[in-house]
Amino acid sequence: MPRPLLAALAFVVPVFLLLAADPPKPPAVPKDTLPATLPLDALPLGLGARAVPTDNPLTEKRVALGRKLFFDPILSADNTIACATCHRPELGFAGEGAKARGIGGKEGHRRAPTLLNRGLGSAFFWDGRAKSLEEQALEPIENPVEMGSTVADALAKLKANADYSKLFADAFSDGVTPGNLAKALAAFERALVRGDSPVDRFRIKGDVAGMTPAEKRGFWIYESKGACWKCHSGANFSDDDFHNTGVSWGGTDLGRFAVTKKEGDRGRFKTPTLRGVALRPPYMHDGSLETLDAVVDFYNRGGGKNPHLDPHMKPLDLDDADRKALVAFLKSL
Ligand code: HEC
Ligand code: HEC
Repeated sequence: MPRPLLAALAFVVPVFLLLAADPPKPPAVPKDTLPATLPLDALPLGLGARAVPTDNPLTEKRVALGRKLFFDPILSADNTIACATCHRPELGFAGEGAKARGIGGKEGHRRAPTLLNRGLGSAFFWDGRAKSLEEQALEPIENPVEMGSTVADALAKLKANADYSKLFADAFSDGVTPGNLAKALAAFERALVRGDSPVDRFRIKGDVAGMTPAEKRGFWIYESKGACWKCHSGANFSDDDFHNTGVSWGGTDLGRFAVTKKEGDRGRFKTPTLRGVALRPPYMHDGSLETLDAVVDFYNRGGGKNPHLDPHMKPLDLDDADRKALVAFLKSL
């Protein structure tokens, strides 16, 4: 073959292969590996109270229905994506990777947060645009980069399915409706609880021996010069409020500002719980920090400098042992 032709082929073939490569795929739907019964009444040690709306009591039937729906790709347009695709049990019900990947492998602009203890929360999404789990639950179905469907389509599929028609009729007096779909998903999410960590046993039962020396030192830093407790406060290690810590300041995601349009809300995001935090790297709304060590280094630097930085964010002056201890404490939650 003449040389120019060979050279041209050498160029064309890889480009062709590149174009023919499959588009990125969403991760597979994980299996439901949760225990057969979930805690509906008593919460694990340390969690305090969980508010359950009076019009959506936590019944076994609703939780079981929500659980089936959560792991079922039926809610997505092409039956490939379930809630569990992005909120994976093995990752503390958070997503894989820095950005969520939904229908057709499309990438969203934020990381899928943990759903653990969301029943204790009062603001949903990183920017708090939903006020209840019920209000949140139908949004992913219609999000074009998540499940890419419509609630009407999802309901039609559920109505045509004999199993679901029966389960809805058993759990609700009026069967398959948008409100009941949201209620069942929310009921299941309220049963995803995590507590009873060494620090709960220490605080509530006085079990001092259950914490390692490093974890104790880390707890002390969290409560003192680390100032972590100022935002990661209360039983769920979150004030459910919005703060500017300077994560990815200057990027396109304006956080709480998009909801309120208040200048001071630029770059504010909801404080996530710290419970189960070791299960779900990478961290922050954009997955920009890969490890807990990187998170602690970020806080030690005083966060990301910007004009709206929260006043609680200051350089911490933690030494090596302090940083290791704080990471050990975080891992114990
Ligand atoms: C393609 C991935 C994807 C799918 C599928 C998905 N989610 Fe999410 N979920 C996310 C992302 C990303 C966020 C954060 C979005 C934001 O803050 O704007 C989120 C946020 C949430 C939150 C708010 C949590 C909090 O701490 O504020 C809840 C609750 C939730 N999802 C439940 C569900 C339910 C129920 C389903 C199924 C009906 C579902 N998700 C399907 C990616 C996904
Ligand atoms: C001013 C309030 C504030 C203080 C102080 C604070 N945090 Fe945070 N924390 C937040 C907010 C808000 C986020 C989410 C930021 C984002 O995603 O942009 C966050 C995120 C995190 C995350 C990531 C969790 C996840 O699921 O992605 C960890 C871990 C964390 N903080 C640990 C700490 C530790 C340890 C300290 C103390 C050294 C601390 N925080 C101090 C408000 C605070």
